[in-house]
Amino acid sequence: MVSGNTHLTVSLYNHYDFAEMKKAPTGISPIIAIDRRAAKPLHRQVYDAYRTAIVDRSLRAGQRVPSTRILALELGISRIPILTAYAQLVGEGYFESRVGAGTVISRSLPDQVPFSEPRGAQSTKVHVGSRRLSKRGSNVLPIERAPWQRGWGAFGVSQVAFGQFPFQVWNALVTRHCRKAHAKSLDYGDAMGSKALREAIAAYLRTARGVRCEAQQIMIVSGSQQALDISARIFLDRGSRVWMEEPGYRFARNVFAINGCQIVPVPVDYSGLNVAAGIERCRTARAALVTPSHQYPLGVTMSASRRMQLLDWAQNSQSWIFEDDYDSEYRYESMPIASLQGLDSNSRVIYIGTFSKVLFPSLRMGYLVIPPDLVERFQAVRLAMDIGPPSFFQAVLADFIREGHFSRHIRRMRLLYSERRRVLIDCIRKELGFAADVTGGEAGMHLSVTLKGIRDCEVAERASRQNLWLVPLSTSYIGKASRQGFILGFGSTAVEEIPNAVRKLRTILTSM
Ligand SMILES: Cc1ncc(COP(=O)(O)O)c(C=O)c1O
Repeated sequence: MVSGNTHLTVSLYNHYDFAEMKKAPTGISPIIAIDRRAAKPLHRQVYDAYRTAIVDRSLRAGQRVPSTRILALELGISRIPILTAYAQLVGEGYFESRVGAGTVISRSLPDQVPFSEPRGAQSTKVHVGSRRLSKRGSNVLPIERAPWQRGWGAFGVSQVAFGQFPFQVWNALVTRHCRKAHAKSLDYGDAMGSKALREAIAAYLRTARGVRCEAQQIMIVSGSQQALDISARIFLDRGSRVWMEEPGYRFARNVFAINGCQIVPVPVDYSGLNVAAGIERCRTARAALVTPSHQYPLGVTMSASRRMQLLDWAQNSQSWIFEDDYDSEYRYESMPIASLQGLDSNSRVIYIGTFSKVLFPSLRMGYLVIPPDLVERFQAVRLAMDIGPPSFFQAVLADFIREGHFSRHIRRMRLLYSERRRVLIDCIRKELGFAADVTGGEAGMHLSVTLKGIRDCEVAERASRQNLWLVPLSTSYIGKASRQGFILGFGSTAVEEIPNAVRKLRTILTSM
């Protein structure tokens, strides 16, 4: 009879797994096919399975192995052959055993082990002839990690004041929800997201962002990227044309590419997306992606007349508007600008929000506001994609908002960012003078500096060697860049760091 590991029969040793956990964490065993009728003794079968897995590097140094008791239970054999095999593996130096810490794969394996490459790595070298991949996947260009994206500090874009996050409050809420975990909380949730969080978001959006919505229209997603992907699947077909702001948000391009859409770049000026230019280039585009509150990357606010033109175009051409409202909680010189969605009387706007800027990006949480008649469609597509969002952090976030910590955090951060932004603009004026055209500092956590006569990628590369992180403006263009300069984030740059960092930038610019 052949028996194998039974990793999935958890209930079988539930009680005693718990006892094991108290002693030392247990590990995972390789697949061991035990053949009781084979001439090879059981201890040798176990020994060989481990040795093979170590030699072909399926098991790596430091990895934990299961206790003899658990493995005996999994394999359905007595502990004795396992004890014998483990003793031999320890003796030969394949295993290391420490009292109280369990048994691990040895960190200094015997010299005689003829190490092969890990299986995964090997397979990439095998010549397998031509590989047919999907066109939609191949349309996605790898976003290479340029030198200016590799660091932390002045003037990293997409970085918030991480150190100022109310960790104590957050951790207390996380602990509260860990303690509250119960059988039902482990089940699948609603494809749209938790009711409590959707209600909290809807209340916030109605008051702070002028969005017309009810909780039933909110879908929780893993960020703007997923929101856009779901929207693309619902509204766009292969070959559909989509307006994108030029310059615009690079990460959105690939969402359209993977959905087989054609991007139509539409220029942005001081009033936002030039709707007339869009109509001239492609009146029949199916959708437009816009950042009307704080254009990315130039930071301009779309004027009221452009908003009306855009809504009219969408209605007349039966097109859709994806409104990416990623950081407009922070406005410094005026009241926050109401959303485009709030002006739309034809339900043509799909509103996309994210917690990446207002809280922190590793949370991977955002939301969509869906026109009421399309909620079912979105629900069906979401079920096909990933069934729904994970429950735990939704519960934590709902309490964070409901108990007032969210609005308190926004108020605190607005003051902090406002000061950082003021100092940054003063320093740019002082060090770079009027050669620098600064736009977009009225809101958000970045501004743009346009400079004539420079090659922004070269400057950014050199700056990165001095721990200065500048995103070149030219990289936000799909076509030929009509501006050179930098996107400067001030979210994670302390006031005291700013003067020095801008001086460093001036020195680099004058030395090139
Ligand atoms: C224009 C724009 N939209 C959205 C986001 C946030 O994306 P996500 O919610 O996927 O983190 C960013 C982040 O930098 C952004 O710049």
